[in-house]
Amino acid sequence: MAMRRLVAGTGWKMNIGAAEATRYGSELALRLAQIDVSAVDIFVLPPFTSLVAASAALAATPVAIGGQNMHWEESGAWTGEISAPMLVEAGCRYVELAHSERLYHFAESYELVRRKVDSALRSGLTPIICLGETAQEKGEGRTDDVLLEQVLTSLAGQPDARVADVILAYEPRWAIGGAQAATPDYVAERHAILRNNLKAHRGQDAADRTRIIYGGSVTAENGPQLIAIDDVDGLFVGRAAWTPEGFARIVEIVAGAAQNKGTGQTA
Ligand code: PGA
Repeated sequence: MAMRRLVAGTGWKMNIGAAEATRYGSELALRLAQIDVSAVDIFVLPPFTSLVAASAALAATPVAIGGQNMHWEESGAWTGEISAPMLVEAGCRYVELAHSERLYHFAESYELVRRKVDSALRSGLTPIICLGETAQEKGEGRTDDVLLEQVLTSLAGQPDARVADVILAYEPRWAIGGAQAATPDYVAERHAILRNNLKAHRGQDAADRTRIIYGGSVTAENGPQLIAIDDVDGLFVGRAAWTPEGFARIVEIVAGAAQNKGTGQTA
Protein backbone atom coordinates (compact mmCIF):
# COMPACT_ATOMS: atom_id res chain seq x y z
CA MET A 1 0.00 0.00 0.00
CA ALA A 2 1.27 3.40 -0.92
CA MET A 3 2.21 5.77 1.86
CA ARG A 4 0.33 8.99 1.48
CA ARG A 5 1.81 12.10 3.06
CA LEU A 6 -0.71 13.67 5.41
CA VAL A 7 -2.09 17.13 4.82
CA ALA A 8 -3.10 19.99 7.13
CA GLY A 9 -4.79 22.95 5.52
CA THR A 10 -6.94 25.95 6.23
CA GLY A 11 -9.08 28.19 4.06
CA TRP A 12 -9.58 31.67 5.42
CA LYS A 13 -12.67 32.38 3.32
CA MET A 14 -13.36 36.18 3.19
CA ASN A 15 -11.34 36.88 6.33
CA ILE A 16 -7.85 38.13 7.19
CA GLY A 17 -6.73 41.05 5.03
CA ALA A 18 -3.14 41.68 3.99
CA ALA A 19 -1.92 43.38 7.19
CA GLU A 20 -3.46 40.69 9.37
CA ALA A 21 -2.08 38.00 7.05
CA THR A 22 1.44 39.23 7.77
CA ARG A 23 0.81 38.96 11.51
CA TYR A 24 -0.83 35.54 11.15
CA GLY A 25 2.05 34.26 9.00
CA SER A 26 4.79 35.48 11.33
CA GLU A 27 3.07 34.04 14.39
CA LEU A 28 2.40 30.72 12.64
CA ALA A 29 6.05 30.52 11.57
CA LEU A 30 7.16 30.90 15.21
CA ARG A 31 4.75 28.26 16.44
CA LEU A 32 5.55 25.73 13.72
CA ALA A 33 9.26 26.09 14.45
CA GLN A 34 8.50 24.26 17.73
CA ILE A 35 6.93 21.23 15.99
CA ASP A 36 8.39 18.52 13.73
CA VAL A 37 6.24 19.12 10.67
CA SER A 38 8.50 17.31 8.20
CA ALA A 39 5.92 14.57 7.57
CA VAL A 40 3.04 16.94 6.77
CA ASP A 41 2.07 18.96 3.69
CA ILE A 42 0.72 22.24 5.05
CA PHE A 43 -1.29 24.85 3.17
CA VAL A 44 -3.02 28.13 3.91
CA LEU A 45 -5.59 29.60 1.51
CA PRO A 46 -5.88 33.37 2.02
CA PRO A 47 -8.15 35.72 0.07
CA PHE A 48 -6.51 36.90 -3.17
CA THR A 49 -5.42 40.29 -1.81
CA SER A 50 -3.62 38.61 1.11
CA LEU A 51 -1.70 36.05 -0.98
CA VAL A 52 1.49 38.04 -1.42
CA ALA A 53 1.63 39.10 2.25
CA ALA A 54 1.00 35.54 3.44
CA SER A 55 3.54 34.15 1.01
CA ALA A 56 6.20 36.57 2.25
CA ALA A 57 5.46 35.94 5.92
CA LEU A 58 5.63 32.17 5.43
CA ALA A 59 8.57 32.12 3.00
CA ALA A 60 10.99 30.53 5.47
CA THR A 61 8.52 27.80 6.53
CA PRO A 62 7.25 24.62 4.86
CA VAL A 63 3.78 26.18 4.65
CA ALA A 64 2.54 26.59 1.08
CA ILE A 65 -0.18 28.98 0.04
CA GLY A 66 -3.03 28.67 -2.39
CA GLY A 67 -6.02 30.44 -3.87
CA GLN A 68 -9.64 29.75 -2.92
CA ASN A 69 -10.85 29.77 -6.51
CA MET A 70 -9.65 30.62 -10.03
CA HIS A 71 -10.81 31.01 -13.61
CA TRP A 72 -10.26 28.27 -16.17
CA GLU A 73 -8.70 30.52 -18.82
CA GLU A 74 -5.17 31.90 -18.50
CA SER A 75 -6.14 35.48 -19.37
CA GLY A 76 -8.75 37.46 -21.25
CA ALA A 77 -11.91 39.51 -20.90
CA TRP A 78 -13.15 38.02 -17.63
CA THR A 79 -13.71 41.00 -15.35
CA GLY A 80 -13.16 40.25 -11.69
CA GLU A 81 -11.46 36.91 -12.24
CA ILE A 82 -7.99 35.50 -11.42
CA SER A 83 -6.17 32.84 -13.46
CA ALA A 84 -3.89 29.93 -12.58
CA PRO A 85 -0.71 31.67 -13.85
CA MET A 86 -1.61 34.71 -11.73
CA LEU A 87 -1.90 32.50 -8.66
CA VAL A 88 1.48 30.95 -9.43
CA GLU A 89 3.01 34.41 -9.78
CA ALA A 90 1.54 35.38 -6.38
CA GLY A 91 3.40 32.43 -4.82
CA CYS A 92 0.66 29.78 -4.84
CA ARG A 93 1.23 26.04 -5.03
CA TYR A 94 -2.41 25.06 -4.45
CA VAL A 95 -5.87 26.12 -5.49
CA GLU A 96 -9.14 25.15 -3.85
CA LEU A 97 -11.97 24.31 -6.23
CA ALA A 98 -15.67 23.52 -5.77
CA HIS A 99 -15.99 24.69 -2.19
CA SER A 100 -19.60 24.37 -1.10
CA GLU A 101 -19.94 28.16 -0.77
CA ARG A 102 -18.78 28.58 -4.39
CA LEU A 103 -21.36 26.04 -5.54
CA TYR A 104 -24.17 27.46 -3.43
CA HIS A 105 -23.68 31.23 -3.67
CA PHE A 106 -22.06 31.50 -7.10
CA ALA A 107 -23.79 28.70 -8.96
CA GLU A 108 -20.56 26.91 -9.83
CA SER A 109 -20.91 23.51 -11.44
CA TYR A 110 -18.57 20.53 -11.57
CA GLU A 111 -18.39 21.03 -15.33
CA LEU A 112 -16.67 24.37 -14.61
CA VAL A 113 -14.61 22.69 -11.92
CA ARG A 114 -13.39 20.19 -14.54
CA ARG A 115 -12.05 23.04 -16.70
CA LYS A 116 -10.43 24.67 -13.68
CA VAL A 117 -8.75 21.41 -12.64
CA ASP A 118 -7.27 21.10 -16.11
CA SER A 119 -5.99 24.68 -16.12
CA ALA A 120 -4.58 24.36 -12.58
CA LEU A 121 -2.66 21.19 -13.43
CA ARG A 122 -1.27 22.78 -16.59
CA SER A 123 0.10 25.62 -14.46
CA GLY A 124 1.61 23.22 -11.94
CA LEU A 125 -0.87 24.01 -9.17
CA THR A 126 -2.25 21.25 -6.97
CA PRO A 127 -6.04 21.44 -7.11
CA ILE A 128 -7.84 20.73 -3.86
CA ILE A 129 -11.19 19.50 -5.17
CA CYS A 130 -14.03 19.68 -2.69
CA LEU A 131 -16.67 16.97 -2.76
CA GLY A 132 -19.76 16.78 -0.65
CA GLU A 133 -23.41 15.92 -0.41
CA THR A 134 -26.15 18.31 0.69
CA ALA A 135 -28.40 17.45 3.62
CA GLN A 136 -31.11 16.60 1.12
CA GLU A 137 -28.92 14.25 -0.90
CA LYS A 138 -27.88 12.59 2.33
CA GLY A 139 -31.51 12.18 3.34
CA GLU A 140 -32.27 10.58 0.00
CA GLY A 141 -29.47 8.06 0.48
CA ARG A 142 -27.59 9.34 -2.59
CA THR A 143 -24.39 10.47 -0.91
CA ASP A 144 -21.89 8.01 -2.38
CA ASP A 145 -23.34 8.36 -5.89
CA VAL A 146 -23.12 12.15 -5.62
CA LEU A 147 -19.49 12.02 -4.47
CA LEU A 148 -18.52 9.64 -7.27
CA GLU A 149 -20.21 11.79 -9.89
CA GLN A 150 -18.38 14.87 -8.56
CA VAL A 151 -15.01 13.09 -8.71
CA LEU A 152 -15.51 11.63 -12.16
CA THR A 153 -16.72 14.93 -13.62
CA SER A 154 -13.87 16.93 -12.05
CA LEU A 155 -11.25 14.52 -13.36
CA ALA A 156 -12.79 13.79 -16.75
CA GLY A 157 -10.14 14.07 -19.46
CA GLN A 158 -7.22 13.63 -17.06
CA PRO A 159 -5.20 10.45 -17.53
CA ASP A 160 -5.23 7.97 -14.61
CA ALA A 161 -1.57 8.80 -13.91
CA ARG A 162 -2.58 12.40 -13.22
CA VAL A 163 -5.28 11.64 -10.67
CA ALA A 164 -2.97 11.58 -7.66
CA ASP A 165 -1.77 15.09 -8.54
CA VAL A 166 -4.97 16.42 -7.00
CA ILE A 167 -6.13 16.39 -3.40
CA LEU A 168 -9.74 15.37 -2.83
CA ALA A 169 -11.42 17.13 0.08
CA TYR A 170 -14.51 15.37 1.37
CA GLU A 171 -16.56 18.15 2.91
CA PRO A 172 -20.15 17.13 3.63
CA ARG A 173 -22.00 20.31 2.78
CA TRP A 174 -24.24 20.05 5.83
CA ALA A 175 -21.20 19.90 8.15
CA ILE A 176 -19.44 23.07 6.91
CA GLY A 177 -19.70 26.05 9.21
CA GLY A 178 -21.93 24.02 11.50
CA ALA A 179 -21.89 23.00 15.11
CA GLN A 180 -20.59 19.48 14.54
CA ALA A 181 -18.40 17.53 12.16
CA ALA A 182 -19.66 14.31 10.60
CA THR A 183 -19.13 11.36 12.96
CA PRO A 184 -15.90 9.38 12.58
CA ASP A 185 -17.87 6.29 11.48
CA TYR A 186 -19.65 8.24 8.79
CA VAL A 187 -16.41 9.80 7.56
CA ALA A 188 -14.59 6.45 7.58
CA GLU A 189 -17.33 4.88 5.45
CA ARG A 190 -17.42 7.75 2.92
CA HIS A 191 -13.64 7.84 2.51
CA ALA A 192 -13.38 4.05 2.12
CA ILE A 193 -16.15 3.97 -0.48
CA LEU A 194 -14.66 6.94 -2.30
CA ARG A 195 -11.27 5.26 -2.48
CA ASN A 196 -12.85 2.02 -3.66
CA ASN A 197 -14.75 3.88 -6.35
CA LEU A 198 -11.56 5.63 -7.37
CA LYS A 199 -9.96 2.22 -7.78
CA ALA A 200 -12.86 0.89 -9.83
CA HIS A 201 -12.88 3.88 -12.19
CA ARG A 202 -9.30 5.18 -12.26
CA GLY A 203 -7.22 2.17 -11.14
CA GLN A 204 -5.35 0.85 -8.12
CA ASP A 205 -2.47 3.29 -8.35
CA ALA A 206 -4.72 6.35 -8.38
CA ALA A 207 -6.69 4.94 -5.45
CA ASP A 208 -3.53 4.19 -3.45
CA ARG A 209 -1.80 7.51 -4.06
CA THR A 210 -4.55 10.13 -4.00
CA ARG A 211 -4.92 12.00 -0.74
CA ILE A 212 -8.52 12.28 0.50
CA ILE A 213 -8.78 14.82 3.31
CA TYR A 214 -11.75 15.69 5.51
CA GLY A 215 -13.25 19.11 6.17
CA GLY A 216 -16.37 20.44 7.88
CA SER A 217 -16.40 21.66 11.48
CA VAL A 218 -13.01 20.16 12.32
CA THR A 219 -11.65 21.32 15.68
CA ALA A 220 -8.67 20.55 17.89
CA GLU A 221 -11.09 18.39 19.90
CA ASN A 222 -12.49 16.17 17.13
CA GLY A 223 -9.37 16.36 14.93
CA PRO A 224 -7.41 13.49 16.54
CA GLN A 225 -10.25 11.01 16.01
CA LEU A 226 -10.85 12.08 12.42
CA ILE A 227 -7.21 11.99 11.33
CA ALA A 228 -6.76 8.56 12.96
CA ILE A 229 -9.15 7.05 10.38
CA ASP A 230 -7.29 4.86 7.84
CA ASP A 231 -8.51 6.54 4.69
CA VAL A 232 -8.41 10.10 6.03
CA ASP A 233 -5.20 11.69 4.77
CA GLY A 234 -5.58 15.14 6.22
CA LEU A 235 -7.68 17.80 7.89
CA PHE A 236 -9.06 20.84 6.09
CA VAL A 237 -10.14 23.47 8.56
CA GLY A 238 -12.06 26.72 8.50
CA ARG A 239 -13.00 28.50 11.72
CA ALA A 240 -10.75 26.53 14.08
CA ALA A 241 -7.67 27.64 12.12
CA TRP A 242 -8.38 31.32 11.68
CA THR A 243 -5.86 32.12 14.40
CA PRO A 244 -2.24 31.02 14.12
CA GLU A 245 -2.47 29.20 17.46
CA GLY A 246 -5.58 27.37 16.26
CA PHE A 247 -3.94 26.25 13.02
CA ALA A 248 -0.70 25.29 14.77
CA ARG A 249 -2.71 22.95 17.02
CA ILE A 250 -4.30 21.31 13.97
CA VAL A 251 -0.89 20.89 12.31
CA GLU A 252 0.46 19.36 15.50
CA ILE A 253 -2.42 16.85 15.57
CA VAL A 254 -1.75 15.85 11.96
CA ALA A 255 2.01 15.61 12.59
CA GLY A 256 1.28 13.29 15.53
CA ALA A 257 -0.97 11.15 13.34
CA ALA A 258 1.77 10.89 10.71
CA GLN A 259 3.96 9.26 13.34
CA ASN A 260 1.20 6.83 14.35
CA LYS A 261 0.28 5.96 10.80
CA GLY A 262 3.90 5.66 9.77
CA THR A 263 3.36 7.92 6.77
CA GLY A 264 6.31 10.08 7.69
CA GLN A 265 9.01 7.78 6.33
CA THR A 266 8.43 8.53 2.67
CA ALA A 267 9.02 11.98 1.33
P1 PGA B 1 -15.40 25.02 9.01
O1 PGA B 1 -15.18 25.27 7.44
O2 PGA B 1 -14.18 24.26 9.50
O3 PGA B 1 -15.49 26.39 9.60
O4 PGA B 1 -16.66 24.21 9.15
C1 PGA B 1 -14.72 24.20 6.66
C2 PGA B 1 -14.65 24.59 5.22
O5 PGA B 1 -15.41 25.47 4.77
O6 PGA B 1 -13.82 24.03 4.48
